Amino acid sequence: MRLRDKVALVTGAASGFGAEIARLFAAEGAFVAVVDLNEAGARSISTEIGNAASPIRCDVAVGPEVRNAVEQHKRSLAVWTSSSTMLERHTAISQCWRSLRPSSTKFMR
Ligand SMILES: NC(=O)c1ccc[n+]([C@@H]2O[C@H](COP(=O)([O-])OP(=O)(O)OC[C@H]3O[C@@H](n4cnc5c(N)ncnc54)[C@H](O)[C@@H]3O)[C@@H](O)[C@H]2O)c1
Repeated sequence: MRLRDKVALVTGAASGFGAEIARLFAAEGAFVAVVDLNEAGARSISTEIGNAASPIRCDVAVGPEVRNAVEQHKRSLAVWTSSSTMLERHTAISQCWRSLRPSSTKFMR
């Protein structure tokens, strides 16, 4: 239970790597924000995980949407993992990350 009492925000979490990361982090004790452009998929993964997750519809290419997703968990955010397709083309996450920079938060790509 390496993530007990921590909040993890996982983008691209509706499928593939991101969904597996979300499941793993929940199994390690985290509360997981299941973030994805695919709202139905995010809801499905969140429901599968149960009480330790909540879905957030967000396009990681859109700054205000990224900031809104982060705002929902900012105070307790401990881990931010991004598995969204073509992240390299998206600057919204890195910009938001630079403005946030809590010392306890780790960003994994
Ligand atoms: N599958 C592989 O073997 C592999 C290997 C190396 C790297 N990658 C890279 O890892 C990443 C994830 O791969 P995957 O296989 O899990 O892909 P996937 O398509 O299963 O999952 C990507 C998720 O990102 C979401 N997404 C796409 N654009 C988004 C956006 N703008 N905002 C929010 N969410 C968005 C999609 O809805 C989807 O749920 C990709 O960038 C892929 O190129 C994959």
